[in-house]
Amino acid sequence: MGYCSWFLLSCFLWSFLNPGTHQLQSSQTQVLLQLRKHLEYPNQLEFWNNHGMDLCYLSPSTQVNMTCQDNVVTELRMVGDKPAMVNSFVGFAITSQTLSGNFSMDSFVTTLARLTSLRVLSLVSLGIWGPLPDKIHRLSTLEYLDLSSNYLFGSIPPKISTMVKLQTLNLDDNFFNDTIPDWFDSLSNLTILSLRNNQLKGPFPSSIQRVASLTDLILSGNDISGKLPNLDRLSKLNMLDLSEKQFRF
Ligand SMILES: *[C@@H]1O[C@H](CO)[C@@H](O)[C@H](O)[C@H]1NC(C)=O
Ligand SMILES: *[C@@H]1O[C@H](CO)[C@@H](O)[C@H](O)[C@H]1NC(C)=O
Ligand SMILES: *[C@@H]1O[C@H](CO)[C@@H](O)[C@H](O)[C@H]1NC(C)=O
Ligand SMILES: *[C@@H]1O[C@H](CO)[C@@H](O)[C@H](O)[C@H]1NC(C)=O
Repeated sequence: MGYCSWFLLSCFLWSFLNPGTHQLQSSQTQVLLQLRKHLEYPNQLEFWNNHGMDLCYLSPSTQVNMTCQDNVVTELRMVGDKPAMVNSFVGFAITSQTLSGNFSMDSFVTTLARLTSLRVLSLVSLGIWGPLPDKIHRLSTLEYLDLSSNYLFGSIPPKISTMVKLQTLNLDDNFFNDTIPDWFDSLSNLTILSLRNNQLKGPFPSSIQRVASLTDLILSGNDISGKLPNLDRLSKLNMLDLSEKQFRF
């Protein structure tokens, strides 16, 4: 009891006396530690611990980068060593390829959504598996979302259409296997849309012709059918890849 109140008092005094410091909010640190647990303590996060170090000041590496502003995390980038290297995936954990059967994509995203100021989120080759839940849209400040090379399947959640700040959406090399969505015209600042190597089906989404900001459109390696609409209005388009299904590996 004595220790506790002394601790709280010193924290209070510390924050009171240091209004200008940029210590990461402890609630944000807790979220990061939770994420580390969800990701089953990958090696690249071994420096994330609860020993009072400000996680914002860890030096960037090829595997993890984080940027903070005003005591909150604004950018989080991680690359793991579990690329989506299988041709068939039936929606269950695969030993040493995906995270374990204990991983829950739903609670992972619930935790992520507590990083309410994120602008950049890139989680690549981490063995993340499951359907991508609709609540991903709670990350409404995101401008850049890259979840490539994981084991996500099912549909691309319709609520992503409400994430109007998105400029880059990259879901390459996953197992999305529903029809390709047709709400891309809700994302008026979208410049890069990349859905390469999934199992998306159905007609080419005609909403894409109205996303005038697009510079890169990559839909190759899916089962998209039908006629290509007129893309003349996409005057900034720089890269268009609609090639057929390739064998991935
Ligand atoms: C982190 O940033 C460095 C330098 O900007 C870059 O070389 C590295 O690839 C980044 N790592 C990730 C995981 O994005
Ligand atoms: C998508 O893949 C999952 C996992 O393999 C499977 O359970 C589901 O039935 C598939 N859905 C469609 C529409 O093919
Ligand atoms: C999954 O969770 C159970 C119960 O919490 C635990 O005993 C087991 O070790 C966990 N498995 C892995 C691979 O983390
Ligand atoms: C789209 O980008 C413009 C220019 O960068 C910006 O002013 C605007 O706020 C953005 N729109 C949204 C919905 O974020």
